Amino acid sequence: MTQKVFRISDSYNELYKFLRNEAFKRILLVVDGSFGVLPCKHDIDNLRNACGCDIAVFDDFLPNPSVDSVIKGIDVFNEHACDAIFAVGGGSAIDVAKCIKLYCKTDITHEFSQLKPVDNDVKLIVLPTTAGTGSEATRYSVVYYNGEKQSVTDNGIIPCAVVLDERVLYTLPDYQKRCTLCDAFFHAVESFWSVNSTEESKAISENVIRTILSVYRAYLDGDKHVCATMQTAAYDAGRAINITQTTAGHAMSYKLTSYFNIAHGHAVALCNVGVAEHLLRFTNRCVDPRGESYLLETLKRLATALGCRDVSELPEHIRGFVGEMNFTVPKADADQIDALAKSVNPVRLKNSPVAIDENDARNIYVKILGAK
Ligand SMILES: [Fe+2]
Repeated sequence: MTQKVFRISDSYNELYKFLRNEAFKRILLVVDGSFGVLPCKHDIDNLRNACGCDIAVFDDFLPNPSVDSVIKGIDVFNEHACDAIFAVGGGSAIDVAKCIKLYCKTDITHEFSQLKPVDNDVKLIVLPTTAGTGSEATRYSVVYYNGEKQSVTDNGIIPCAVVLDERVLYTLPDYQKRCTLCDAFFHAVESFWSVNSTEESKAISENVIRTILSVYRAYLDGDKHVCATMQTAAYDAGRAINITQTTAGHAMSYKLTSYFNIAHGHAVALCNVGVAEHLLRFTNRCVDPRGESYLLETLKRLATALGCRDVSELPEHIRGFVGEMNFTVPKADADQIDALAKSVNPVRLKNSPVAIDENDARNIYVKILGAK
């Protein structure tokens, strides 16, 4: 499916025109807590007048949304007889909206594990308010059930339209900027070395890496001129992981996030410092079916994109990039390292081009975390 992308440079007219042509009767607007202060709030509030459709608002969910929140959202969707969903927000708002879309025609009285998505033609439109998750481009969503993270993957939840309004980045808090920037950057890096990479995904992710490296300092310094570029890079990194999925850096980051209460991109950045070193050191344990020499070529190409003179500099360059983010490094004792190593989902590690077992994960955590 080809997504429609609306890059808002000066007006929402093209988007309004698209929505009018779709002739929606009532749109479920899914928004998070940031909505009230967004520079685009007025343009979204104006949907009702500009598109001639009704709006029902759903905002009753928290970060890391639960299945209960999704069910509440489906209730609002059905009560108001909505025929489209428009998510405006960060990763959680988009995740909730995707799950509402997926299960809006399902009998939701069953246990979550028994829910079967029913195909539907409800249109999902997404306006991301950070430049990082790339969720606007992917078939992935995350929802929490009994406190446990559940990954949802379905082609039916890829938004049909994406709205990129650079103004939402102008006031993003500094920590959130650094974390989301790293999330996008490492989507591209992990996608590039994934065993599922294709020439198409590699071309996209290589371009993202070069683009982010050329603008990230200006972006962090608050230069508004590079916000649209960052937004497109994050979206393209999402397109790359939609093809390949993420790899070990993400797999190892999840527990770190909840254990030390740090943001997703923060944890992903720390983990990839250790993962990059591991990959280069153990190319002889390559599990990519294309072979070790292919992996070495991939790492060399990645090193070149990162500005290294030689592939041996790859880990150092990644460490340098993450170092510039000034992230705090959590301190862990031996028991915590052990718990982290045991928590990594082995299925998610399968996309890594070099085998990583529990012991490797332990060694990587030791290297990237401070000792208590
Ligand atoms: Fe991510």
